[in-house]
Amino acid sequence: MSKRYTITAALPYTNGPIHIGHLAGVYVPADIYARYLRNRGKNVAFICGSDEHGVAIALKAKMENKTPQEIIDYYDKLIRDSFNSFGISFDNYSRTSRKIHYQTSQEIFKDLNKKKVFQEIVSEQLYDSEAKQFLADRYVVGICPICKNSEAYGDQCESCGSSLSATELINPQSTLSGSKPKMRNTKHWYLPLDKFENFINEWIIKSHKSDWKQNVYGQVKSWIDNGLKPRAVTRDLDWGIPVPIAGAEGKVLYVWFDAPIGYISSTKEWAYNNGIDWEPYWKDKETELIHFIGKDNIVFHCIIFPIMLHASGSYILPKNVPANEFLNLEGEKISTSKNWAVWLHDYLEEFPNQQDVLRYVLTSNAPETKDNDFTWEEFQSRNNNELVAIYGNFINRVVVLTNKYYEGIIPEIKSRSPEDEKIIDQIGIITKKIGSSIEKYKFREACQNLMQIARIGNKYLAENEPWKLIDKNPKRVSEIINTALQITACLALVSEPFLPFTYEKLISILNIKSLKLTWSDAFMKNDLIPSGHQINEAKLLFKKVEDIEIENQRLKLANNKKR
Ligand code: 2FM
Ligand code: ZN
Repeated sequence: MSKRYTITAALPYTNGPIHIGHLAGVYVPADIYARYLRNRGKNVAFICGSDEHGVAIALKAKMENKTPQEIIDYYDKLIRDSFNSFGISFDNYSRTSRKIHYQTSQEIFKDLNKKKVFQEIVSEQLYDSEAKQFLADRYVVGICPICKNSEAYGDQCESCGSSLSATELINPQSTLSGSKPKMRNTKHWYLPLDKFENFINEWIIKSHKSDWKQNVYGQVKSWIDNGLKPRAVTRDLDWGIPVPIAGAEGKVLYVWFDAPIGYISSTKEWAYNNGIDWEPYWKDKETELIHFIGKDNIVFHCIIFPIMLHASGSYILPKNVPANEFLNLEGEKISTSKNWAVWLHDYLEEFPNQQDVLRYVLTSNAPETKDNDFTWEEFQSRNNNELVAIYGNFINRVVVLTNKYYEGIIPEIKSRSPEDEKIIDQIGIITKKIGSSIEKYKFREACQNLMQIARIGNKYLAENEPWKLIDKNPKRVSEIINTALQITACLALVSEPFLPFTYEKLISILNIKSLKLTWSDAFMKNDLIPSGHQINEAKLLFKKVEDIEIENQRLKLANNKKR
């Protein structure tokens, strides 16, 4: 049985569409990883779903005069369609509004309650007497006690990134009625994170200094250094999963308690639908659990959710949490409220069938170790100078020449020259490097090496100039074309995780589906395509992006920006 991997990608909130920052930070890297492992024959469950609770959704519904259900149904569909269009290959995409998720979250809550993990604490919380409800999370804004930003929310300050509780805000104000909240007593269930400091210390601080990303390790360490505090996992709200115990009537689970459980319920849903057992994906010590997230989710995936899993007793812990930093857009922070974003559904209207271009640009410039900037200028230059001029050009030349000289039939060769052997070996080594970069979550590095294969192929053709030799030395030309075709097939195979749509086109141009080649064939120990094999005509893979298109995108951004 091959090794099992449970790969999760952060569940997006269904209160807005998906933009390039989401794709670059979470979904493209997770998809490359999942596709790569499948290519290596591993047993993969790639899991995601819509995150449909929380104040942000309830507020959005209120603002638009809709019900939360209407909001989540609308965005769930939009988000699902975007993921499908961009080839994000989830094995299951569920919703936290489904019954299976309610059951799973409530069971886990009851189990932890039975194990006496929670502390029940009555405390004074902010209450809006006009709206007649308690104010938590995004229902309250005020001044951040740390950086003094005047628009900090009751759960987080987006300016300095601090995680806050509503009662810490200076001059709090209700976002529902605008009134000044009063204090009122209420009881909640708290997860005593402080009691688990040792566990986090042993598991992350002492053991993952070298194999986890520095940005992730550093953030966890600073949480531990500052001391963990008990955290409420219930809320007085009317939108969420009811707390399933007596004495908690009218209360719901905190969205960050139920959302990560969504990974488990989505896995269950997938397993039931496919007649397999879900438990090994979450409970077998040999399974590798990997969470792909953005940096704002680190504390939840490295501290809070693992504490829940650990306290439950039977679950495995993540092997790694390769969180990315943020992607900015044209030098400014991406912002939904300011409409400063490139939305995926918009992109597809402007650049139909060009999903791989965006996947490629976002991977080449992924915010892996620091925040990065997406610019339309870079989009254009990576498309024109790399995908068109190097990748597309190489494939096109090989396919056109094969059709022109050999009617599309791979020419036979007696032996390969030492120079050609050397190129083939070099390509095999690069394929191995691509795999090991992916295994280390270094997707930018892997993507550079993918382009390096095309670069070597192009250089090989340019130096050998088969078009000048076809009359004088046809034997040499068949060697060159045969070698170039092997490189083309290798490039097709290793492109699958990065450029899945281009991969499909290449497989069809080279007509190699029936050869059932795998990633390890791309180590180039043997020929990938046999002589005598018939390929098809060339097809356009990438097309030039003109200056005017880029100018239009910049104008569109500026015009749509809300101030
Ligand atoms: O930050 C967010 O968009 C959250 N909806 C991520 C949730 S991840 C998980 F825990 F479900
Ligand atoms: Zn702040």
